[in-house]
Amino acid sequence: MRIAMIGTGYVGLVSGACFSQFGIDVVCVDKDKQKIKSLKAGGIPIYEPGLDKLVEDNRSAGRLTFTTDLPAAVAAADAVFIAVGTPTRRGDGHADLSYVYGAASEIADALGRYTVIVNKSTVPVGTGREVCRIVRERRPDAEFDVVSNPEFLREGAAIEDFMKPDRVVIGVESDRAREVMRSIYRPLYLIETPMVFTTLETAELIKYAGNTFLATKITFINEMADLCEKVGADVHDVARGIGLDGRIGRKFLHPGPGYGGSCFPKDTLALAYTAREAGSPVTIVEQVIQVNTERKKRMAQRVIEACGGSVAGKTIGVLGLSFKPNTDDMRDAPSLDILPALVAAGARVQAYDPAAMHEAARVLKDIDYKDSAYDTAAGADCLLVLTEWNQFRALDPKRLKQLLRQPLVVDLRNVLNPAEMRSLGFTYECIGRPQPRHSA
Ligand SMILES: NC(=O)c1ccc[n+]([C@@H]2O[C@H](COP(=O)([O-])OP(=O)(O)OC[C@H]3O[C@@H](n4cnc5c(N)ncnc54)[C@H](O)[C@@H]3O)[C@@H](O)[C@H]2O)c1
Repeated sequence: MRIAMIGTGYVGLVSGACFSQFGIDVVCVDKDKQKIKSLKAGGIPIYEPGLDKLVEDNRSAGRLTFTTDLPAAVAAADAVFIAVGTPTRRGDGHADLSYVYGAASEIADALGRYTVIVNKSTVPVGTGREVCRIVRERRPDAEFDVVSNPEFLREGAAIEDFMKPDRVVIGVESDRAREVMRSIYRPLYLIETPMVFTTLETAELIKYAGNTFLATKITFINEMADLCEKVGADVHDVARGIGLDGRIGRKFLHPGPGYGGSCFPKDTLALAYTAREAGSPVTIVEQVIQVNTERKKRMAQRVIEACGGSVAGKTIGVLGLSFKPNTDDMRDAPSLDILPALVAAGARVQAYDPAAMHEAARVLKDIDYKDSAYDTAAGADCLLVLTEWNQFRALDPKRLKQLLRQPLVVDLRNVLNPAEMRSLGFTYECIGRPQPRHSA
């Protein structure tokens, strides 16, 4: 079995490395010459725990190679995976499918023997059929099938998610392609991973339905957190109290500054667009998008209010820039809304992230990047926690208090202990938890 992986980003590189770990020969293809050059030289372009070792082990075993030569990779492959980006299209929120269709055309021109073309990118309903049409039009002679195999890995836990997924979804409509997919995923059959075989359209929709459901769950708990603040309840206890109900589940009930990342924002928009076009709007998702967008914007104001109504001339120390811990991915991170708003309001912003400083520096200007969390606290009038990296949970509050100009912490991820912080004399603001009652 030989696989060509078209697109060597988060999904392509992790999937390619994991398939090679299954014992399959994988060639990862990318247009980005610099990325391929670096991968060939042993570099890893993204931060993902465990990925460096996995890539190196399989590269040195000769099962994982890298190239910019798409035609050669496709011609030798039994299955070609499309794992290119599907960002939001400018203007209307739909997914930009130009990379997918571009890859489909290039694949078509290079097809040799029977090949299964597998769409791993997150794509709106109907894209698989369109890929099929493009390939058929360019190569009426070619023997191929198109399959939809959406990816559910989470950045930060991507390898574990790929190797031990909750399920694998495969939209496939021919027995021949189904056998190829079964053989690729054989190691997961052995550990009894549920395999959901569907049509192309259903597989495509499952991916969007999953992501928008999770985005809705986050938005729900964020609004509950706001309500908790108004009525004096504790959102952590509410989350636990409802999450222990097996029908609800405990995951994705952590309040924060609003969801971000490379998937939820664009996938909610794309599903809303698809649904409107189909004449069956998903108004709940449209509401989720609006609530989340406003929430991210509101967070800067929350910091300004915590600083007494103005941050002009004040220094804000920011802990965490990536959209979640264990990744350097900055796409649609809440920091991209909050930090520029603070700078625009006159604040000096100094920041630290354990992995995303390099990525952040490309998109967030006018920030003083520091070498550690403590350096970031030094001289700040307010310490703002934006990403729940584990190392921030272990910070020594006494040391923070000595370093800060004012003992003020706005913790938008609830990583610190409110009772401890307040007993040490901090003004400590977090999300959805009761403020201490002051006796009259
Ligand atoms: N990042 C995630 O956590 C995640 C999880 C599940 C699904 N997805 C989906 O997977 C897809 C890929 O996401 P990503 O985060 O890996 O994207 P990415 O932007 O990190 O990587 C895409 C790569 O494809 C390359 N590329 C584009 N066109 C090409 C072509 N014709 N030939 C060769 N290379 C080409 C780009 O140079 C880039 O390196 C998206 O549809 C995304 O929604 C992402």
